Amino acid sequence: MSFERSRDAYDRHVGRYSSALARALIERSGVRDGDRALDVGCGPGALTEELAARLGAENVAAVDPSHSFVDACRARVPGVDVRIGAAETLPFADDSFDVVSSQLVVNFMADARAGVGEMARVGRRVVSSCVWDYAGEMWMLRRFWEGARDVDPDAPDEAVTMRYCNRDELGQLWSEAGLDDVRTGELVVDAAYVDFDDYWSGFPGGPGPSGAYTAGLDPDRLAEVRAAVRRRLGEPEGPFTLTARAWFVRGTVGG
Ligand SMILES: C[S@@+](CC[C@H](N)C(=O)[O-])C[C@H]1O[C@@H](n2cnc3c(N)ncnc32)[C@H](O)[C@@H]1O
Repeated sequence: MSFERSRDAYDRHVGRYSSALARALIERSGVRDGDRALDVGCGPGALTEELAARLGAENVAAVDPSHSFVDACRARVPGVDVRIGAAETLPFADDSFDVVSSQLVVNFMADARAGVGEMARVGRRVVSSCVWDYAGEMWMLRRFWEGARDVDPDAPDEAVTMRYCNRDELGQLWSEAGLDDVRTGELVVDAAYVDFDDYWSGFPGGPGPSGAYTAGLDPDRLAEVRAAVRRRLGEPEGPFTLTARAWFVRGTVGG
C-alpha cells in the first residue's frame, strides 16, 4: 500500500482530519494523566502528537512500517520513541502500555487479527481504534469514489474493498482478540477547504488507495474523474466544509 509519502502530501489528503480525530479518540479511549501510550500505525504523527501533549513525549511510543512517515513523526514529536514496525509483530514487551491505540490503520493491516492480538499483548488497560465510515459519512472519500465510479464502474471504491469499516465487524475483531467490555461508537470531525482545487490537491500523488488510483490514470481520464467528483460535491464555488465519520472501538485488557 502506498504510504511512502511526505507529511505534506498526507495532510492535504485525509491528514486534514487527523488531529481532531486523534483528540476525539483519546477522549473516548479514557486516557488518564500518568498513562503510557502506544500509537500503532502512527503515520506522520497526528495521534502521537496529541498523546504527547497530554502525557509527555517520554510516556509515548509510536510505530509504523512507512520509513517516510516514521521520519515525519520523529520530526513532529521530538522525544517520542518512534520505531519502524508493523502491528502484527510489535517490537515491545508484554503489558508495556496503559493505552494502545491505532487511528485509521486496522483496515490496512495485512493480518488484522494478529495486529489487534499484538495490541492486546503489549497493552495493560485499554486497546482502542477507529476506522473511516467508508461506505457512509466520510464525505471526502465517499464523494471521490462516487465520482470515480461515475466514470469508471470498476474503480476500487474503498466502501467495497475495505474491511473493518463498520461497528459490528470492528467489535467482533476486538472480542476475538480476547478484549473485554468491548464498546463501539462514532467519532465525527470536519475539515475546511478553501475551494475545490484545495480538496482535489490531496488526490493525485496522495497516500492510500485513492492516491494510487489517481496515479494510474492517464491525463484525460484523470480530468474526467476530477469533473465527476466536482459534480458529486455539488460544483462548489469557494470555501466549503466536509464532515467525516469514523467508527470507534475500545476494549479492556483482561486479567
Ligand atoms: C491512513 S494512515 C493513518 C495514519 C495515522 N494513524 C493518522 O491517523 O493520521 C494508515 C497508516 O497505517 C500504516 N500501516 C499500514 N499497514 C500497517 C501495519 N500492518 N501495521 C501498522 N501500521 C500499518 C501506514 O503506513 C499508514 O501510516
